[in-house]
Amino acid sequence: VLSDNNARLAAARGLTNPRARRETGRFLVEGAPAVAQALRQPGVVQQVFATAGARYRHADLLAGAPEVAEISDRAAAGLSETVHPQGLVAVCRAVDVPLEPVLERRPRLLAVLVGANDPGNAGTILRTADAAGADAVLFAGDSVDVYNGKLVRASAGSLFHLDLVTGLDPAAAIQACRAAGLRTLATTGAGARQLDELIDAGELAVPTAWIFGNEARGLPADLLAAADQTVRVPIYGKAESLNLAAAAAVCLYGSARAQRVGQ
Ligand SMILES: C[S@@+](CC[C@H](N)C(=O)[O-])C[C@H]1O[C@@H](n2cnc3c(N)ncnc32)[C@H](O)[C@@H]1O
Repeated sequence: VLSDNNARLAAARGLTNPRARRETGRFLVEGAPAVAQALRQPGVVQQVFATAGARYRHADLLAGAPEVAEISDRAAAGLSETVHPQGLVAVCRAVDVPLEPVLERRPRLLAVLVGANDPGNAGTILRTADAAGADAVLFAGDSVDVYNGKLVRASAGSLFHLDLVTGLDPAAAIQACRAAGLRTLATTGAGARQLDELIDAGELAVPTAWIFGNEARGLPADLLAAADQTVRVPIYGKAESLNLAAAAAVCLYGSARAQRVGQ
């Protein structure tokens, strides 16, 4: 059992801090389901820390892990960002990739998040984009750190399933998507086109990059103007707007369905 003062453990504990994540290019993944997803990606997991109980419960899973160190329950609590630590934490290398190779692969469905700052929303969008068969999620502007513990948990392993691009300039990202043949659709409650109208006209069948804005401010006017279309999800009741992740789910699934009709 590693001492609670062990240097590797201390370095891993430091990864609960965004600056240490940025400087080392590493992040933490907690809990058996997410660790299992990480282990399926070759070369991503660098080290696993497990309590005696977790080692026993997840013996099969850990048989495929590169390096497993046993830690105390107290040390596990120090590595955890949850109220109920699960006793199983993997140190992973950052998985984000540059934009160019993603666009060279001719993606058909992308989500671009501009200034999304709620990690729960961003993680939920990653999970939803993965479920809808999107190729990549792009983080642009002043968006949340994609390796934030809450975001990683909310993504439920999906951050390992699709291409993740971070640190983009929003206007340049929209321009690059268009140059790669994607139709760029910026979402806002005041959109010029209504989502159902686009679906009915068969306009969502083409390769599409959906652009979503900040939870409070939405998308700035220059980015709304830069996109090929502005799109609104209809509000039939009295809600002022949709939650960002809910809006993303409706739009991404609209494209997912349209792109599969007749296949
Ligand atoms: C809570 S909204 C920001 C509010 C802002 N007034 C607006 O409508 O854009 C955050 C993000 O969710 C998406 N969103 C929310 N409601 C929407 C709607 N009715 N139609 C399209 N997108 C919506 C957009 O991406 C928006 O930038």
